Amino acid sequence: MPKKLYIKTYGCQMNVYDSVRMADALAPLGYARTEAVEEADFVILNTCHIREKASEKVYSEIGRLRPLKTTAAAEGRQVLLGIAGCVAQAEGEEMLRRAPAVDLVFGPQTYHRLPEMVTRLLAGDGRGLVDTDFPLDSKFDHLPEESAGQGAAAFLSVQEGCDKFCSFCVVPYTRGAEFSRPVTDIISEAERLVAGGALEITLLGQNVNAYHGEGPSVASPIPASKTWGLGRLLRRLAEIDGLERLRYTTSHPRDMDAELIATHRDEPKLMPYLHLPVQSGSDRILSAMNRKHSADDYRRLVGDLRNARPDLSLSSDFIVGFPGERDLDFADTLRLVTDVGYAQAYSFKYSPRPGTPASDIEAQVPESVKTERLTALQQLIGAQQLAFNQGKIGARLDVLLEKPGKRPGQLIGRSPWMQSVVVEAPERLIGHIIEVDIEAAHGNSLAGRVVTLDYRPDSTVASTVFEQTGAA
Ligand code: 5AD
Ligand code: SF4
Repeated sequence: MPKKLYIKTYGCQMNVYDSVRMADALAPLGYARTEAVEEADFVILNTCHIREKASEKVYSEIGRLRPLKTTAAAEGRQVLLGIAGCVAQAEGEEMLRRAPAVDLVFGPQTYHRLPEMVTRLLAGDGRGLVDTDFPLDSKFDHLPEESAGQGAAAFLSVQEGCDKFCSFCVVPYTRGAEFSRPVTDIISEAERLVAGGALEITLLGQNVNAYHGEGPSVASPIPASKTWGLGRLLRRLAEIDGLERLRYTTSHPRDMDAELIATHRDEPKLMPYLHLPVQSGSDRILSAMNRKHSADDYRRLVGDLRNARPDLSLSSDFIVGFPGERDLDFADTLRLVTDVGYAQAYSFKYSPRPGTPASDIEAQVPESVKTERLTALQQLIGAQQLAFNQGKIGARLDVLLEKPGKRPGQLIGRSPWMQSVVVEAPERLIGHIIEVDIEAAHGNSLAGRVVTLDYRPDSTVASTVFEQTGAA
């Protein structure tokens, strides 16, 4: 009987992708994924450490899972519990000490070693295993090819880690140094995803536009292995037949080079939506954050991008209450939001991350002030988002239908601008791009009518669920 693997994924799309690849790595040992935790032989929590009391949440989830292990043990069945991701990386050995129910703690760069770790555990080789290495050889060189496709909207990790060291951010410590996968590996993976039914691929990386992967070898006299930037990679991927949409996330403003901007101008498959975190509109705070760009640099960049692709819509991340942030600084953030005009944006209260420089700054902002600023910022962003959505009423949009909606007969898809679109349509249309006339707009979604139901695809493809976060 195949063994059952249950993976709970927290945080960003990179973790969603990693969970898929962990399942691929374990498939040769006979593990198949399940959505029912009670029947699992192996439970993995793929954790996120970016904000708030991440490790506490993981410890309480472990507490909830403990009875599952003891009940199974009483029936003579062994259930393994593994903690993966950035909390695992940050906590390491400590996790085994504090939570004896945990069998395995492994960091984001060690997933390819999972089969070996599990084999050792099942052979009863010691109680807990910890692997929080940053191996010199990349996990991508050792993971098996992905199993069946991810569905119509797929993720593909092209870059990982970060060398920017923004003073608030834990990513450079948990994910390690920046690393780009070679171009040929990415092209092969994209081709396999498309063969498996993907119409849209989102390239992932904590700092995805810092991508500088080794290019395909070329015949002499031109030297082999010239590196490619993200713009060139996107242009090449756009040549894949059957691939209709490309996206990438998450970007840093400083890595938005001329070639990438020109790709937004030239490549229609590159969707007109960009998540470009700015974090703050105050130059003082941006400098304390070690962002190495000013608010005006960002305004100019947005101008260049919109010149290249006039229908481009933007999203961003903001942190309020960074240490030392005054009312004046926050007012600068509101001004930047007003100037840029976002289709959506994420905003967070600053949360001190142990080991990061900003957590040692004495001038921490009181919680009540953070709450006040967050409310004001979210109101402004919410109003912009609603206005952006209302601007689509009456438009005919291409929507990639991804999954059933809340009510029977409804399906949910994505517009080119990442808006959720709800339509009444038969399930056979899941996994296809169809035209929708938009009739209503809300804060977080659009609703519309499918232009023609005569559309008869030969096959239906399973969908992937999105969650929007990231880094950079
Ligand atoms: N506190 C609050 N927000 C943070 N982010 C990253 N680190 C912190 C922190 N310490 C936010 C940033 C980043 C997003 C993924 O999470 O806005 O872009
Ligand atoms: Fe790197 Fe982004 Fe974190 Fe800055 S916020 S350190 S760019 S991952």
